[in-house]
Amino acid sequence: MTNKIYIIHENDEWVEPLRNELKNINAPFEEWHLGKRNVDHLDQPPQGIFYNRMSASSHTRGHRYAPEHTAVVLNWLEKYKRRVINNSRALALEISKSLQYKELESFGIKTPKTIYCSNKESILKSANIFRKPFITKHNRGGKGLGVKLFDNKKELDSHVSGKDFEPSIDGITLLQEYIDARPKVIIRAEFVNSKFLYAVEVDASEGFELCPACPEDQIDVPETQFFGDYCPTIGNKFRIIKNYKKNKLIENYEKFIKKNGIEIAGIEYITDQNGIVYTYDINTNTNYNSQAENDSEIKGMKSIAKFLKEELLLLNNIRIVA
Ligand SMILES: Nc1ncnc2c1ncn2[C@@H]1O[C@H](COP(=O)(O)OP(=O)(O)O)[C@@H](O)[C@H]1O
Ligand SMILES: [Mg+2]
Repeated sequence: MTNKIYIIHENDEWVEPLRNELKNINAPFEEWHLGKRNVDHLDQPPQGIFYNRMSASSHTRGHRYAPEHTAVVLNWLEKYKRRVINNSRALALEISKSLQYKELESFGIKTPKTIYCSNKESILKSANIFRKPFITKHNRGGKGLGVKLFDNKKELDSHVSGKDFEPSIDGITLLQEYIDARPKVIIRAEFVNSKFLYAVEVDASEGFELCPACPEDQIDVPETQFFGDYCPTIGNKFRIIKNYKKNKLIENYEKFIKKNGIEIAGIEYITDQNGIVYTYDINTNTNYNSQAENDSEIKGMKSIAKFLKEELLLLNNIRIVA
């Protein structure tokens, strides 16, 4: 097999589980770390399968322009009609909650009430509309960036005018209604090959979760922060829901991701005390929690590796015998 699978990313550590799974099934691959290397576009791209794993939070690992660079690379690949998994449209969604919510709503999927603010003044002014607790978060987020809970405008005022306030890397801060789930859990539905894989319940009682897979040595845990950076791999915060019944919401997610060039994703939702479901985050750079997967026959990275290899075989016109 001469053609390869190309993995577009900016974090070596997150690729490790995928490397292992691809090696296990003898699938040839090459990595394009777009935080480190430049891809010049003088020639045509190589033949192969291109899997985009660019992350919205890449600036927190020193790769400020990796998403922009990825956008340019994906334009080039798509110009030459290469097979791209999680294409330029998927990337656009990865880096903008505003675009995520607009698209979700167009599929009749409910999202929390959100205001988009481009400066401190508008953050302070906009908070007046919330009669109940609300949160801030970054438009270009990932790992819970900028997520903080406020009971009232006064609390927000002192945070925004204080030294700890950090705007989103794209300048857009969200103010969003806080969904008070009881118990405090969120659900993350995983998709591979645009199809539902499994749903994970995440205990959010101690804060807003980070990457579901980050190794413990990367943990950065401010102790007193109710919401913000903490790592879910501490303790047993993740649980794959056995016998999760595929429902209308999941069917809608499948339609939504297909329409938006997303084939691999984790979508997060939360349910309020009246049973109303709000979808609030789409991750096209999905990682899996190995602790939770211990008890599951279905494994995320293994499923991705199998999918990528099948796509490569298709490209090479090799018939897959089941
Ligand atoms: N509107 C909300 N109400 C209650 N909790 C929320 C809300 N939005 C986010 N959270 C919590 O904060 C975490 C991080 O928010 P999220 O939108 O997923 O940002 P990121 O893209 O940084 O992961 C969520 O997993 C969830 O636990
Ligand atoms: Mg999230």
